[in-house]
Amino acid sequence: MDLHILDHKLRVTSITKTGLQQYTHPLIKLIFLRNRTRCKFFSLTETPENYTVVLDEEGFKELKPSEHLQVEGSTWFPLNVVSNGNASSSSQAVGVTKIAKSVIAPLAEQHVSVFMLSTYQTDFILVREKDLSVVVETLLEEFNIFREEGGESVPVHSQDACNGLQRNVHPVLIPENQFCVMSLDPDTLPAIATTLIDVLFYSNRYESCCCCKLLFPYACSIVTIVFVFSFLLLSGELWRMVRIGGQPLGFDECGIVAQISQPLADSDISAYYISTFSFDHALPYIGYVYTVLGRLLTNCSP
Ligand code: ARG
Repeated sequence: MDLHILDHKLRVTSITKTGLQQYTHPLIKLIFLRNRTRCKFFSLTETPENYTVVLDEEGFKELKPSEHLQVEGSTWFPLNVVSNGNASSSSQAVGVTKIAKSVIAPLAEQHVSVFMLSTYQTDFILVREKDLSVVVETLLEEFNIFREEGGESVPVHSQDACNGLQRNVHPVLIPENQFCVMSLDPDTLPAIATTLIDVLFYSNRYESCCCCKLLFPYACSIVTIVFVFSFLLLSGELWRMVRIGGQPLGFDECGIVAQISQPLADSDISAYYISTFSFDHALPYIGYVYTVLGRLLTNCSP
């Protein structure tokens, strides 16, 4: 399998609900007027607490500093696993489940904090720039690693490593809502612009629930949208949500994604996984939410 370190330097930010008005102009530009910005990676997730915006440096320039904008101090790089056709895995699972054992667990063991952004097609594992050498060292056994630089994939070789293990147990919350994970061709965005603007910026009525996200890895020309199902009656697969964290999780702790994705992988249960500024969200396939919970509880007990 190949692992690509994508050529996007990302910032993880959050905008308060009350400060949103100050940012709708740049956000509309970043979402709908793509030819007016040089931003190549953009992700917006709404949760009851705030909006999480993950974007590259070009996009970040559009967001004026203010008391409503919080910015995590580090630069993050997205990693992306590409299976090159030799279907050795018997698992049909999608999302974080697929990479739980090969990527998530080894990184957690090496104390690397990750920030996950699942999309319909693939999963982006964000790691801090300062951790890249440990990441490469850790994953080189399992993967051919490539670094994307100016459109070229350059093979990466071994550097140096470190060691350790630590694990906290965080409370989880399971909202009633069901979610629909979809992918779109970005060219169809204008056609659903009014719906999206409504969902993204005026959707206080869904406030109790959750998380609504939009992610453009422009490189792949795909937009992923996670909607609350009750909002748009769409057909397709449904997902539930497990929100992880009682207090905001911060960015330094490692092993949170591992703790959730490991039991999912053991049971071969598909799940998407979305980190936001304050909390993490696992989206297991609809029938399995309590299985996931059961597995977590068994895992947590001493
Ligand atoms: N860093 C955590 C991990 O390595 C996941 C992200 C949690 N933090 C957050 N703000 N969502 O498992």
